[in-house]
Amino acid sequence: MDARQLKIEAARAALAHVEDGTTIGIGTGSTAEEFVRLLSARVADGFVVKGVATSERTAALCRELGIALTTLDETPHLALTVDGADEVAPDLALIKGGGGALLREKIVAAASDRMIVIADGSKLVDVLGRFPLPVEVNRFGLGATRRAIDEAANRLGLTGPVALRMTAGEPFVTDGGHLILDASFGRIPDPRALSDAMHTIPGVVEHGLFIDLASLAIIAADDGIKTLESTR
Ligand code: 5RP
Repeated sequence: MDARQLKIEAARAALAHVEDGTTIGIGTGSTAEEFVRLLSARVADGFVVKGVATSERTAALCRELGIALTTLDETPHLALTVDGADEVAPDLALIKGGGGALLREKIVAAASDRMIVIADGSKLVDVLGRFPLPVEVNRFGLGATRRAIDEAANRLGLTGPVALRMTAGEPFVTDGGHLILDASFGRIPDPRALSDAMHTIPGVVEHGLFIDLASLAIIAADDGIKTLESTR
Protein backbone atom coordinates (compact mmCIF):
# COMPACT_ATOMS: atom_id res chain seq x y z
CA MET A 1 0.00 0.00 0.00
CA ASP A 2 1.27 3.49 -0.68
CA ALA A 3 1.63 6.08 2.09
CA ARG A 4 -1.65 7.81 1.21
CA GLN A 5 -3.60 4.55 1.39
CA LEU A 6 -2.07 3.81 4.81
CA LYS A 7 -3.16 7.24 6.04
CA ILE A 8 -6.67 6.54 4.76
CA GLU A 9 -6.75 3.19 6.58
CA ALA A 10 -5.67 4.81 9.87
CA ALA A 11 -8.26 7.56 9.39
CA ARG A 12 -10.98 5.02 8.62
CA ALA A 13 -10.21 3.12 11.83
CA ALA A 14 -10.45 6.37 13.83
CA LEU A 15 -13.83 7.15 12.33
CA ALA A 16 -15.28 4.18 14.20
CA HIS A 17 -14.60 6.07 17.47
CA VAL A 18 -16.65 9.12 16.48
CA GLU A 19 -20.18 9.09 17.89
CA ASP A 20 -23.21 10.57 16.18
CA GLY A 21 -24.27 13.93 17.59
CA THR A 22 -20.87 14.82 19.11
CA THR A 23 -18.39 17.67 18.72
CA ILE A 24 -14.81 16.61 18.03
CA GLY A 25 -11.40 18.21 17.60
CA ILE A 26 -10.07 17.84 14.08
CA GLY A 27 -6.32 17.82 13.48
CA THR A 28 -4.06 19.21 10.79
CA GLY A 29 -1.88 17.60 8.13
CA SER A 30 -2.26 15.13 5.30
CA THR A 31 -3.43 12.26 7.54
CA ALA A 32 -5.96 14.43 9.37
CA GLU A 33 -7.20 15.58 5.97
CA GLU A 34 -7.96 11.99 4.99
CA PHE A 35 -9.98 11.77 8.19
CA VAL A 36 -11.87 14.94 7.22
CA ARG A 37 -12.68 13.48 3.80
CA LEU A 38 -14.01 10.22 5.28
CA LEU A 39 -15.95 12.12 7.93
CA SER A 40 -17.54 14.36 5.31
CA ALA A 41 -18.83 11.29 3.47
CA ARG A 42 -20.53 10.15 6.69
CA VAL A 43 -21.98 13.64 7.19
CA ALA A 44 -23.37 13.57 3.66
CA ASP A 45 -25.17 10.34 4.70
CA GLY A 46 -26.82 12.07 7.65
CA PHE A 47 -24.26 11.58 10.44
CA VAL A 48 -24.32 14.62 12.74
CA VAL A 49 -21.01 15.98 13.97
CA LYS A 50 -19.45 19.35 14.68
CA GLY A 51 -15.73 20.02 14.54
CA VAL A 52 -13.25 22.28 16.26
CA ALA A 53 -10.53 22.72 13.65
CA THR A 54 -6.91 22.92 14.78
CA SER A 55 -5.87 25.21 11.92
CA GLU A 56 -7.25 27.58 9.32
CA ARG A 57 -6.24 25.01 6.69
CA THR A 58 -8.35 22.30 8.32
CA ALA A 59 -11.22 24.74 8.88
CA ALA A 60 -11.21 25.61 5.15
CA LEU A 61 -11.32 21.92 4.17
CA CYS A 62 -14.16 21.23 6.62
CA ARG A 63 -16.18 24.13 5.22
CA GLU A 64 -15.53 23.00 1.67
CA LEU A 65 -16.69 19.45 2.50
CA GLY A 66 -19.73 20.41 4.55
CA ILE A 67 -18.55 19.66 8.09
CA ALA A 68 -20.06 22.11 10.57
CA LEU A 69 -17.55 23.96 12.73
CA THR A 70 -17.64 25.40 16.19
CA THR A 71 -15.05 26.80 18.59
CA LEU A 72 -13.66 26.06 22.02
CA ASP A 73 -15.41 29.24 23.18
CA GLU A 74 -18.79 27.70 22.36
CA THR A 75 -17.76 24.16 23.32
CA PRO A 76 -14.82 24.29 25.74
CA HIS A 77 -14.77 20.57 26.49
CA LEU A 78 -14.56 17.87 23.83
CA ALA A 79 -14.91 14.12 24.18
CA LEU A 80 -12.50 13.35 21.36
CA THR A 81 -9.84 14.80 19.08
CA VAL A 82 -8.40 12.99 16.05
CA ASP A 83 -5.06 14.22 14.75
CA GLY A 84 -1.90 13.09 12.99
CA ALA A 85 1.68 13.22 14.28
CA ASP A 86 5.22 13.52 13.01
CA GLU A 87 6.50 10.90 15.46
CA VAL A 88 4.85 8.48 17.85
CA ALA A 89 6.85 6.86 20.67
CA PRO A 90 5.74 3.58 22.29
CA ASP A 91 4.45 5.46 25.37
CA LEU A 92 2.41 7.72 23.04
CA ALA A 93 4.64 10.75 23.53
CA LEU A 94 4.52 12.60 20.22
CA ILE A 95 6.33 15.13 18.11
CA LYS A 96 3.85 17.36 16.30
CA GLY A 97 3.98 20.63 14.43
CA GLY A 98 5.41 19.60 11.09
CA GLY A 99 2.42 21.39 9.59
CA GLY A 100 2.94 24.38 11.88
CA ALA A 101 -0.31 23.95 13.81
CA LEU A 102 1.11 22.65 17.09
CA LEU A 103 -0.26 25.42 19.33
CA ARG A 104 -3.90 25.02 18.32
CA GLU A 105 -3.43 21.26 18.14
CA LYS A 106 -2.19 21.16 21.72
CA ILE A 107 -4.94 23.47 22.99
CA VAL A 108 -7.60 21.31 21.33
CA ALA A 109 -6.02 18.02 22.50
CA ALA A 110 -5.78 19.33 26.06
CA ALA A 111 -9.47 20.29 25.95
CA SER A 112 -10.40 16.74 24.91
CA ASP A 113 -11.00 13.69 27.05
CA ARG A 114 -9.34 11.51 24.42
CA MET A 115 -6.88 12.19 21.64
CA ILE A 116 -6.61 9.57 18.91
CA VAL A 117 -3.47 9.80 16.82
CA ILE A 118 -3.61 8.47 13.27
CA ALA A 119 -0.46 7.72 11.32
CA ASP A 120 1.24 5.40 8.89
CA GLY A 121 3.94 3.09 10.20
CA SER A 122 6.80 5.42 9.25
CA LYS A 123 5.87 7.67 12.20
CA LEU A 124 6.48 5.03 14.85
CA VAL A 125 9.87 5.43 16.59
CA ASP A 126 11.58 3.92 19.64
CA VAL A 127 12.81 7.31 20.84
CA LEU A 128 11.54 10.73 19.71
CA GLY A 129 13.88 13.06 17.85
CA ARG A 130 14.49 11.85 14.32
CA PHE A 131 12.01 14.52 13.18
CA PRO A 132 13.16 18.07 14.05
CA LEU A 133 11.21 19.37 17.04
CA PRO A 134 9.05 22.37 16.09
CA VAL A 135 9.03 25.17 18.65
CA GLU A 136 6.55 28.02 18.19
CA VAL A 137 8.09 31.30 19.30
CA ASN A 138 7.14 34.95 19.57
CA ARG A 139 8.62 37.14 16.83
CA PHE A 140 9.95 39.56 19.43
CA GLY A 141 13.33 38.56 20.75
CA LEU A 142 13.83 35.73 18.27
CA GLY A 143 17.62 35.66 18.66
CA ALA A 144 17.47 35.58 22.45
CA THR A 145 14.80 32.88 22.41
CA ARG A 146 16.82 30.74 20.02
CA ARG A 147 19.88 31.11 22.27
CA ALA A 148 17.84 30.20 25.36
CA ILE A 149 16.49 27.08 23.61
CA ASP A 150 20.07 26.09 22.70
CA GLU A 151 21.25 26.55 26.27
CA ALA A 152 18.30 24.67 27.76
CA ALA A 153 18.92 21.78 25.37
CA ASN A 154 22.66 21.78 26.06
CA ARG A 155 22.01 21.49 29.80
CA LEU A 156 20.12 18.27 29.00
CA GLY A 157 22.97 16.99 26.83
CA LEU A 158 21.17 17.82 23.57
CA THR A 159 22.84 19.68 20.72
CA GLY A 160 22.01 20.47 17.12
CA PRO A 161 20.89 23.22 14.78
CA VAL A 162 17.82 25.28 15.65
CA ALA A 163 16.57 26.65 12.33
CA LEU A 164 13.95 29.26 11.58
CA ARG A 165 11.27 27.61 9.43
CA MET A 166 11.03 29.28 6.03
CA THR A 167 8.46 29.01 3.28
CA ALA A 168 8.91 30.52 -0.20
CA GLY A 169 11.89 32.52 1.06
CA GLU A 170 9.99 34.08 3.97
CA PRO A 171 9.68 33.02 7.61
CA PHE A 172 6.75 30.65 8.07
CA VAL A 173 4.03 32.34 10.15
CA THR A 174 1.61 30.28 12.22
CA ASP A 175 -2.15 30.85 12.48
CA GLY A 176 -1.39 32.61 15.75
CA GLY A 177 1.08 35.00 14.05
CA HIS A 178 4.18 33.39 15.54
CA LEU A 179 7.34 31.86 14.06
CA ILE A 180 8.59 28.29 14.19
CA LEU A 181 12.09 27.14 15.13
CA ASP A 182 12.85 23.54 14.09
CA ALA A 183 15.29 22.02 16.57
CA SER A 184 17.32 19.08 15.22
CA PHE A 185 18.59 17.67 18.50
CA GLY A 186 18.48 14.02 17.45
CA ARG A 187 17.30 11.48 20.02
CA ILE A 188 15.39 13.00 22.94
CA PRO A 189 15.68 10.42 25.73
CA ASP A 190 13.78 12.55 28.28
CA PRO A 191 11.04 14.48 26.43
CA ARG A 192 9.43 15.59 29.69
CA ALA A 193 12.62 17.29 30.90
CA LEU A 194 12.99 19.08 27.56
CA SER A 195 9.33 20.09 27.62
CA ASP A 196 9.65 21.50 31.14
CA ALA A 197 12.86 23.36 30.25
CA MET A 198 11.32 24.97 27.18
CA HIS A 199 8.25 26.07 29.10
CA THR A 200 10.51 28.25 31.28
CA ILE A 201 11.68 30.31 28.26
CA PRO A 202 9.49 33.42 27.92
CA GLY A 203 9.70 33.66 24.11
CA VAL A 204 8.58 30.07 23.63
CA VAL A 205 4.85 30.06 22.95
CA GLU A 206 4.60 26.24 22.81
CA HIS A 207 6.57 23.29 21.55
CA GLY A 208 5.70 20.16 19.61
CA LEU A 209 6.30 17.58 22.33
CA PHE A 210 2.90 16.13 23.22
CA ILE A 211 3.24 14.23 26.47
CA ASP A 212 0.33 12.55 28.26
CA LEU A 213 -2.11 13.88 25.68
CA ALA A 214 -2.66 10.97 23.29
CA SER A 215 -4.80 8.11 24.54
CA LEU A 216 -4.78 5.88 21.45
CA ALA A 217 -2.53 5.65 18.40
CA ILE A 218 -3.83 3.96 15.28
CA ILE A 219 -0.88 3.06 13.10
CA ALA A 220 -1.48 1.64 9.62
CA ALA A 221 1.23 -0.45 8.02
CA ASP A 222 1.37 -2.95 5.16
CA ASP A 223 0.78 -5.81 7.60
CA GLY A 224 -2.34 -4.21 9.06
CA ILE A 225 -3.47 -1.78 11.74
CA LYS A 226 -1.63 -1.63 15.03
CA THR A 227 -3.00 0.23 18.05
CA LEU A 228 -1.12 1.61 21.02
CA GLU A 229 -3.08 2.65 24.07
CA SER A 230 -2.30 4.75 27.10
CA THR A 231 -4.23 4.83 30.33
CA ARG A 232 -5.25 8.46 29.77
C1 5RP B 1 0.64 19.58 11.98
C2 5RP B 1 0.93 18.26 12.59
C3 5RP B 1 0.63 17.07 11.76
O1 5RP B 1 -0.26 16.26 12.46
C4 5RP B 1 1.90 16.33 11.50
O2 5RP B 1 2.82 17.20 10.86
C5 5RP B 1 1.68 15.10 10.62
O3 5RP B 1 1.30 15.50 9.35
P1 5RP B 1 1.07 14.45 8.18
O4 5RP B 1 -0.16 13.68 8.54
O5 5RP B 1 0.91 15.29 6.95
O6 5RP B 1 2.30 13.57 8.11
O7 5RP B 1 1.40 18.13 13.68
O8 5RP B 1 1.07 20.63 12.80
